[in-house]
Amino acid sequence: MRTALVTGAAGFIGSHLVDYLLAAGWRVRGIDDLSAGTMENLREPLRSPDFEFTEGSVSDERGTAAVAAGATHIFHLAGRVGAMYVERNPEQTVLEAIRATRTVLAVAGATRVPLFFASTSEIYGDSAVQPLAEDADIIIAPPANPRSAYAFAKGVGELLVNEYARRTEGPVVLGRLFNTIGPRQSGQYGLVVPRFIGWARDNQPITIHGDGRQTRSFSAVGDVVRAIVATLTTSAAHGQTINIGSDQETSIGDLAATVIRVTGSSSVVRYEPYDSVHGHGARDIRRRVPDTSRLRELIGRDCATPLESVIRSIVEAPVDTSVGGSV
Ligand SMILES: NC(=O)c1ccc[n+]([C@@H]2O[C@H](COP(=O)([O-])OP(=O)(O)OC[C@H]3O[C@@H](n4cnc5c(N)ncnc54)[C@H](O)[C@@H]3O)[C@@H](O)[C@H]2O)c1
Repeated sequence: MRTALVTGAAGFIGSHLVDYLLAAGWRVRGIDDLSAGTMENLREPLRSPDFEFTEGSVSDERGTAAVAAGATHIFHLAGRVGAMYVERNPEQTVLEAIRATRTVLAVAGATRVPLFFASTSEIYGDSAVQPLAEDADIIIAPPANPRSAYAFAKGVGELLVNEYARRTEGPVVLGRLFNTIGPRQSGQYGLVVPRFIGWARDNQPITIHGDGRQTRSFSAVGDVVRAIVATLTTSAAHGQTINIGSDQETSIGDLAATVIRVTGSSSVVRYEPYDSVHGHGARDIRRRVPDTSRLRELIGRDCATPLESVIRSIVEAPVDTSVGGSV
C-alpha cells in the first residue's frame, strides 16, 4: 500500500492533497506546525484509520523522520505564504524554508523515496517572456524589497533539491505552482481570491492594488493536487521542474467582476496605486501565465477547471475562510 508523508498537511493545498490521497486508497501521514493551517481543515481525514497527524515543525529532523518512517512518497508543501506575512518576516521566511527543506531532504535521502517539492511561479518575477517556460532564467525582485524573500526562499529550495537529486540520484519533482484557489484558502495573509470573496460577501468595496489590468492564471486546487500526485507517481517526471497551473489568463479587474457576479454582491471596485500599498518604488507583476506543455506531455492534462466554477465552489463551501472568517 502506498504511504504518503504530506508536510503542511493542515494548510490549504496540503489538506486537499490529504483528501485526494485518502480517496485514492493511500495511507497518509501529515505533519504541520499549525502556524497557518488549522485542524478544521483535517476534520474529515481525522475520521479515517488511514490518516495520522503529527503537530510539529518540519525543521525538527528527529520528529519528521519519525513521522516519515514507512512513507513511500513525500510531498513537501510546508512553508509560509502570503505577501503580508512575507513582507513582515522576510528573514524567517527564508531561514525557516531552508531549514525545513534540508530536513526533508535528509529524511528522503535515508530512504530514496520520491519527493515532491512545492515551488512557485513567483520565481519568474516580472518576466517579459510569456508564457513562462521552466527552463527560462528566473527573475527575482531586488533583495531590498522584503517581499522578494518568498521567491528567494523557493529558489534556494529548488537549488537544494536539484543538488540532492544530482548527488543521490533520488527521484524528485520540482512543481512550480501558479495561483491556486479553492475552498479553505485563508485570506489572512493577503491572498487575492479569499480577500475579494470576503469583501463581496460583506458588500464592502473590493480594493484592487494597481489598475486591475494585471493578469494571473488561477487553478482549481482539485486540479493542482491531481497534478501533484500524477507527476510524483510518473517516473518520466522525476528529475524535472514542472509548471503546475492553468494557462487561462484573467485580469484582476475581471476576477473582481466574477466574484461580484457569483456572490450577487453590491460591492463596488476601487483602485489604489500599487506602490502606495507596497512601498515606494514597488512594482506589480503585469502578467503571469505558465507554459503548461511539459505538464500536459507528462500527465496528459493541465489545470483546466474554469475560473467561474472554482469561485462558485469557494462561495458554496461550508467553511468560511475569507477575511474575518472562521480561520
Ligand atoms: N496557494 C498557492 O497559490 C501557491 C502557489 C505557489 C506555491 N505554493 C506553495 O504550496 C505550498 C502550500 O501552500 P498553501 O497555499 O497550501 O499554504 P498554507 O499556508 O495554507 O499551507 C502551508 C502549511 O504549512 C504549514 N507550515 C509552515 N511552516 C511549517 C513548518 N516549518 N513545519 C510544519 N508546517 C509548517 C502551515 O501551518 C500551513 O498549514 C507552500 O509551500 C506554498 O509556497 C502555493
